[in-house]
Amino acid sequence: MLRNTIKELSTTILNNQSDFDTVKNTIDEIHKHYLETTNIRDLGEGMQHMAAVPTAGGMALSLNHAAACLLDYRRTAKFLDGMVALIREKQQQHPNEVINIFYAGCGPYAPFVTLVAPLFEVSEVQFTVLEINAISIKMAEKLVESLDLKDYVTEFHNSDAVTFQIPDAKKYHILFSETLDALLYRESYVPILWNMLPQISENCTVIPNNVIVQASLTYPQKKNEETRQEKEAAVILDVREAVKISDGSKSLPKSFESITIDLSGDKRYHTMIVDTKVHIYNDIWLHRNESSLSVPLEMEIVYPLEAPNVTFFYELKPSVELKLKN
Ligand SMILES: C[S@@+](CC[C@H](N)C(=O)[O-])C[C@H]1O[C@@H](n2cnc3c(N)ncnc32)[C@H](O)[C@@H]1O
Repeated sequence: MLRNTIKELSTTILNNQSDFDTVKNTIDEIHKHYLETTNIRDLGEGMQHMAAVPTAGGMALSLNHAAACLLDYRRTAKFLDGMVALIREKQQQHPNEVINIFYAGCGPYAPFVTLVAPLFEVSEVQFTVLEINAISIKMAEKLVESLDLKDYVTEFHNSDAVTFQIPDAKKYHILFSETLDALLYRESYVPILWNMLPQISENCTVIPNNVIVQASLTYPQKKNEETRQEKEAAVILDVREAVKISDGSKSLPKSFESITIDLSGDKRYHTMIVDTKVHIYNDIWLHRNESSLSVPLEMEIVYPLEAPNVTFFYELKPSVELKLKN
């Protein structure tokens, strides 16, 4: 039975987090099964499967790009680890209760149902799944059915998580939404949290728990130094701090507060690095370059400085992206 095979493969990932080759080979094998089951390849590279889908705040990935997320190996392994650990912790806190999970943005493989559910009994976990891309959610439904996991999913919604009103929102123990890209570019993680956090219970835990966009400055590397010196310059955006003001009645602001970094000083810098630090759960983070989500942006600082200050701000309307003004 395919579900048992996936359960074994999922367990292999969990037991070999630090062994990249095993993680990679195991996820490749899962991908092979998912490809065969969904026939996703038969859809080819038609425009409708390659084009991003607009949402009320940001863009949602195309079917093909969302499917490819599975192969972001460390990302998938760490999110899986975080999700399973969190479910077990919720079980400790709520013995004999079904753990309810709301999954916003499942993509065609809904990996955080299809890799997670086989590890639990149907009486232990229930998922509600939402996805804006109609072809992706159809595919996810088909895969869930083929893996004989239908009983684990209470509902599938084809809707926009940026505006969706969650029925019976307070029942959820976990909100999962990996709807982000490096530098929080375009995708809707921030607008989704803005909409959903005021709806869910205060005790509901979010995965990823937070995203911090941070600027650092590097110094020119000296001959005797193995690595260059680097110092943290500023937190440009701490998502959970920024969305705290959302109370369910305020609409999404045009942008969050700007932050200015002063580049003048007695020492010369070499570059400025902007990192996307993804806090998944507890001590599980995606660090620099571990995933496509945490690829840093590095900019050379050219002297003499035309302007000593650089100002960043995260724009939410009309587009969702980090912007620079000087
Ligand atoms: C980065 S992919 C991740 C897919 C899958 N959950 C995974 O982890 O591999 C994000 C998914 O969320 C969906 N999505 C993005 N914004 C959304 C929104 N506002 N409402 C519903 N779904 C959204 C995209 O269509 C895409 O399928």
